[in-house]
Amino acid sequence: MENPRSLNKFWIGSCLLMFGFWYLLIYAYDWSSLSLPGISSLSLDSISTENGNQWSTSNTDWNLDSSNRTAEEDERERRCRGRYIYVHDIPSRFNADYIKQCRLLNRWQDMCPYFANDGLGHRLRAGWFSTNQFSLEVIFHNRMKHYHCLTKNSSKAAAVYIPYYPGLDVARFLWDPANAARKDADAKDLFRMLKARPEWGAMGGRDHFLVSGRITWDFRRMGMNLTDWGNTVMVLPEARNMTMIAIESSPWDRNDFAIPYPTYFHPSSDSQLSNHQSKMAKQKRRFLFCFAGAPRPNMAASIREKIMAQCAAAGRRKCRMMECRDDKHNCMKPENVMKAFESSVFCLQPPGDSFTRRSTFDSILAGCIPVFFTPASAYVQYLWHLPEDHASYSVLIPEGDVRRGNVSIDAVLSQIPKARVAEMRENVIKLIPNVIYADPRSRLERYDDAFELTIRGVINRVEWLRKEMSEGRNESGEFDLEFSWKYYTFGSREPHEWDNYFKKGG
Ligand SMILES: *[C@@H]1O[C@H](CO)[C@@H](O)[C@H](O)[C@H]1NC(C)=O
Ligand SMILES: *[C@@H]1O[C@H](CO)[C@@H](O)[C@H](O)[C@H]1NC(C)=O
Ligand SMILES: *[C@@H]1O[C@H](CO)[C@@H](O)[C@H](O)[C@H]1NC(C)=O
Ligand SMILES: *[C@@H]1O[C@H](CO)[C@@H](O)[C@H](O)[C@H]1NC(C)=O
Ligand SMILES: *[C@@H]1O[C@H](CO)[C@@H](O)[C@H](O)[C@H]1NC(C)=O
Ligand SMILES: *[C@@H]1O[C@H](CO)[C@@H](O)[C@H](O)[C@H]1NC(C)=O
Repeated sequence: MENPRSLNKFWIGSCLLMFGFWYLLIYAYDWSSLSLPGISSLSLDSISTENGNQWSTSNTDWNLDSSNRTAEEDERERRCRGRYIYVHDIPSRFNADYIKQCRLLNRWQDMCPYFANDGLGHRLRAGWFSTNQFSLEVIFHNRMKHYHCLTKNSSKAAAVYIPYYPGLDVARFLWDPANAARKDADAKDLFRMLKARPEWGAMGGRDHFLVSGRITWDFRRMGMNLTDWGNTVMVLPEARNMTMIAIESSPWDRNDFAIPYPTYFHPSSDSQLSNHQSKMAKQKRRFLFCFAGAPRPNMAASIREKIMAQCAAAGRRKCRMMECRDDKHNCMKPENVMKAFESSVFCLQPPGDSFTRRSTFDSILAGCIPVFFTPASAYVQYLWHLPEDHASYSVLIPEGDVRRGNVSIDAVLSQIPKARVAEMRENVIKLIPNVIYADPRSRLERYDDAFELTIRGVINRVEWLRKEMSEGRNESGEFDLEFSWKYYTFGSREPHEWDNYFKKGG
């Protein structure tokens, strides 16, 4: 093929082809049929999405003149009625500026790379990212920017979103006692500002909500000593009226609600999501159960050691153990964690430093049936995202039995009939859309993801509070704080078989 003659022929042929192409392009093509987009449709309103759907229309209504609306706008009004969200315009020092200080956010780890791609982190492959759980507030805010029913008219809004990043704010000072006094400063400033705005007056802030990528306990400092852990965002008087959303809520407080931790999967299309689901359904699962995590030698009440011992006793062919120690960064690698979960039937989810774990959502994503040891790990937490019938998708083994060495996890799981296991796994896989946050730069058509379910949850709650206020009732203020987990999960304060899990200090 290195023959100069054939090379010459090739060049002559190419030139003729190019000439013909340009000739046709310039003279034969009817340019008038190509309408260039008008300037107006290039404005910020026209957010075109990656999957090229029909959502190229404005997602905000700030240009609407109600005297002559187009049919499209009428359609939007019909679709969005009761679902409008008003986003407070707050200075960047309460959100974007924290990302600029990403080096302060963690003493041991550089958090900066995690804020790439709208908070999803570095892209690993199509739909998969190296996502950090603390990025949730950034991801959520970026999703909100593209929410299809935003409004600039707060009196039309079903709820009011505050795009503040409380987790990033407090993280800057958690390991910095010298600056402990600054831990509450931004939140107090912000709340003072919001309270002075007219939007606050409508319901005393009851229609306001914010989202945190840290657990509730980081915002509920009890003691007077500023150097005690966390700040006081969730106990400030303004916050008591708002709906505070976090990756873990307190079972004993009424103003916070939990939503799923972010996983590594952020699909940008329906097919990416459904392909993953069918892949998980077909997955070969060699291990009966699996545990990924670290022991908690300093926590006397922790059952982690017992669980790890049971895993070891079951043998390597039955229980897959992924020990996460500081010296081995294997648990930080998304592909390692996912591979372990994807090859197991059950995934053990004992509490860690707090009740909940990100791992629960990684295991659902992998089609691995979660095994909980207390209802505080999920059943009373993710009320908007997980089904009430917890036995349909998970197993509960009481932590007390594990602590007393009175139960064999292996035996409990082995005794579940195969057909029942298959049914549970099918349900887990059906839950995947509920617990993932789609890529903010695109939009899913056929699925409601964790973001959409959160919006629905907030709107229902605010609607309920609004109705209560207009009727002069205060049911949501009448139950004892101690029972709030029961009230929100079952709508009752009656004695319950789970009471012993929620004895405070117990
Ligand atoms: C509103 O209606 C008037 C008259 O019908 C028309 O001239 C005008 O362009 C319309 N405005 C918009 C924004 O469509
Ligand atoms: C805002 O919405 C309310 C309630 O729907 C409506 O009465 C009012 O006219 C709207 N204000 C503006 C400026 O569009
Ligand atoms: C606050 O806590 C720190 C560390 O726990 C301690 O050194 C300090 O004495 C405490 N301050 C007060 C006023 O109790
Ligand atoms: C919270 O709501 C109550 C009842 O509407 C109101 O009296 C109170 O002033 C509100 N708190 C704040 C800080 O606005
Ligand atoms: C062990 O557990 C069983 C059932 O879970 C219970 O009936 C029994 O009393 C427990 N025994 C001890 C010693 O805790
Ligand atoms: C309802 O009761 C709670 C607790 O007593 C109180 O904090 C709240 O302000 C009350 N809400 C209204 C609207 O009065």
